[in-house]
Amino acid sequence: MSLDGRVCVVTGGARGIGEAIGRRFGAGGATVAVWDVDGDDAARTAASIGGSGHACDVSRRAHVEAAAAATLERHGRIDVLVNNAGVAIAGPSESVSDEDWDVSIGIMQTGVFLCSQVVGRHMLERGSGAIVSISSINASEAFPMRLAYCAAKAAVVAMTEVLAIEWADRGVRVNAVAPGVTRTALVQRGIDEGIIDVAGYHARTPMGRFGEPDEIASAVAYLADDEQSSFVTGETLRVDGGWSANGWIVSR
Ligand SMILES: NC(=O)c1ccc[n+]([C@@H]2O[C@H](COP(=O)([O-])OP(=O)(O)OC[C@H]3O[C@@H](n4cnc5c(N)ncnc54)[C@H](O)[C@@H]3O)[C@@H](O)[C@H]2O)c1
Repeated sequence: MSLDGRVCVVTGGARGIGEAIGRRFGAGGATVAVWDVDGDDAARTAASIGGSGHACDVSRRAHVEAAAAATLERHGRIDVLVNNAGVAIAGPSESVSDEDWDVSIGIMQTGVFLCSQVVGRHMLERGSGAIVSISSINASEAFPMRLAYCAAKAAVVAMTEVLAIEWADRGVRVNAVAPGVTRTALVQRGIDEGIIDVAGYHARTPMGRFGEPDEIASAVAYLADDEQSSFVTGETLRVDGGWSANGWIVSR
C-alpha cells in the first residue's frame, strides 16, 4: 500500500470511524497524527498505533494551527488529512438552540474549512497531498431532526468540490466519503435515545445491516492513496450498503 511512510492526520481520530482509519493507515506503514478534542483519548489511541496524539478542537483556528505546527515539528510534513471529527445533535428543527447549531456547524463545517485551509497551505507549498473528508448520506438524504447535521454534511460535499477544482493542478486531491449508518458510539447514543430505528434502518438498506468502521476506513484509504486514486478528485464516495441508491420503501 502506498500509504507506507506517509504522514497522515486524522481529526476525531481517538475513537469510532476515525480510530479505524488511523489503525488502517498505521497497519499500512503510515505515521498517524491523531487530532481530537479529547487529548487523553487521542494520546492513548495514537500510542496504540505508534503515532502522535494532539489535543485539538477543530472548530477553533488557534487549536488547528497549533496541532499542525506540532505535527510538522514532530513528523516533518503532512501527506494526508482526514477531516473526520463530528458530533450528532438531534432534535426538532423548530427548537434547535443557537448553541447546538453553532457546535454542529463549528465542528463539521468550519472545522473542515479550518483544517483543509491550514493543512492545505502546507500541501500546496509542497505540491502534493490528499484530503479526505467524512460527509454522510445525510448530505443528500434527509433524516428528520438533524437540521444542522444535514446542512454541515452537505457543506462538506460543496467544500470538497470547490477545493478539488482549485487545487487540482497544484498536486492536492480533495475527496469525501459519505457513510451510511455505521456502528460506533455516536450511533449507539442515537439508538439509546430512541432516535435510530434499528430494524427500520436495516429493512431500508439493501445490504440489510449497518456499516462497520473498517468498511469506511477502506474507502478512505483508497482516496488517500495517490497510487490507487491518482485521477480521482472532487468525488464523494457513498459507502452505505446501497441505502442512497434505494428508492423503494423497503429492501427486504
Ligand atoms: N457513525 C455513523 O453512522 C456515521 C455516518 C455518517 C457519517 N459519520 C461521520 O463520521 C465521523 C465520525 O463519526 P463516529 O461515528 O466515529 O463518531 P464518534 O462519536 O464515535 O467519534 C467522533 C470523534 O470526534 C471527536 N470530536 C468531537 N468533537 C471534536 C472537535 N471539536 N474537535 C476534534 N475532535 C472532535 C470525538 O472526541 C470523537 O473521538 C463524523 O464526522 C460523523 O458525522 C458517522
